[in-house]
Amino acid sequence: MKPDTIYCGDAVELLDRCAEDSVDLVFADPPYNIGYVYDQYHDDRPNEEFVEWCRTWMAGCQRALRPSGSFYLAIGDDFAAELCLAGKALGLTLRNWIIWHYNFGQNMKAKFTRAHTHILYFVKAPDQAVFNADLLRFPSARHTEYQDKRANPKGRLPDDVWDEFPRVCGTFKERDGYHGCQMPEALLTRVILASSRPGELVLDPFVGSGTTAAVAKRLGRRYLGFDLSDEYVRRTRKRLSEVRDESTLAPDEDGWPALHTDMLLQIYRETKVSLENLVANTIAMEVIAGSLAARCGHRYEVDEVAQELHRCAASAALPKLPNDRRFSPRRRQNDAAPAAYQRRVTRHRTRKTPTRAT
Ligand SMILES: C[S@@+](CC[C@H](N)C(=O)[O-])C[C@H]1O[C@@H](n2cnc3c(N)ncnc32)[C@H](O)[C@@H]1O
Repeated sequence: MKPDTIYCGDAVELLDRCAEDSVDLVFADPPYNIGYVYDQYHDDRPNEEFVEWCRTWMAGCQRALRPSGSFYLAIGDDFAAELCLAGKALGLTLRNWIIWHYNFGQNMKAKFTRAHTHILYFVKAPDQAVFNADLLRFPSARHTEYQDKRANPKGRLPDDVWDEFPRVCGTFKERDGYHGCQMPEALLTRVILASSRPGELVLDPFVGSGTTAAVAKRLGRRYLGFDLSDEYVRRTRKRLSEVRDESTLAPDEDGWPALHTDMLLQIYRETKVSLENLVANTIAMEVIAGSLAARCGHRYEVDEVAQELHRCAASAALPKLPNDRRFSPRRRQNDAAPAAYQRRVTRHRTRKTPTRAT
């Protein structure tokens, strides 16, 4: 298999062609067997057949991983338990059962709204697994609330419930618009920073719209991606042609490289403190400057970090935190531009009968 390539074909067959112990990180976001509409794949198999199929491609991922490798598997409620057991049966070690909690979940009429996805984080050999803790840190409440000088000056690690990554919605700049399950780039950035090093190989056996490969390339990793759909593969290759390795860029007369600003905005989301309160807190700002230097390999001083946050706020690029702005009534979107909001993409459709009795 040639690194930095997207292959069109069946994941099981393509995984068979990967050399043993050749991949450093797998991120797999397979179909969830819930009747989703894809270009080439019919997402509605008998349960046993689906689980058996997952066991087969998971074994392929396990074989391809190096001993220091990690395997992240995103899956819905219906099969998370079965696939966790399948991973353990393959000899993988579960490090975290991560819940990705997002807003804008699909509304339900007679049960609670579903607003999460499971991400099972396995490693092949716990004593050799890569985990770059210092690339994930942000200020803790001890820094932001109490300005406690005894708190770890490097900051804290994220919890196993991830709520800083909104789903890629219709109006998002990063949305490609043709694939209904596009993962957020910020989520893949966390996974790739945590569990791989520059130059290492990241594999996504169900690459879809190409998020994993695009983020891997941007962060200076090599990538491999597979998908059954020639349409998705064609569009992923196009997406990748517009991405460059930004991992070694430094600021120049045009200002900060976009990757550094994105990393800063991610730390801001993680810290969950409004701009005004944050920039006034020098202890927290020191932690942010340190974490940013670890993530992007360039040290910005605290006042440069504050300036960049203010610049983002002025251009409306600062992420919105819950209730951090004054309420002001706005016109209803439907009055303003109904046509512009029509979605072109295939709509999400789930089957009528639930997978199991609930
Ligand atoms: C949930 S989506 C992945 C979305 C992706 N994470 C993204 O960010 O766009 C699952 C993908 O698996 C692909 N797929 C389904 N069966 C496959 C198979 N046997 N081999 C390879 N790809 C397959 C589908 O075409 C679909 O694009």
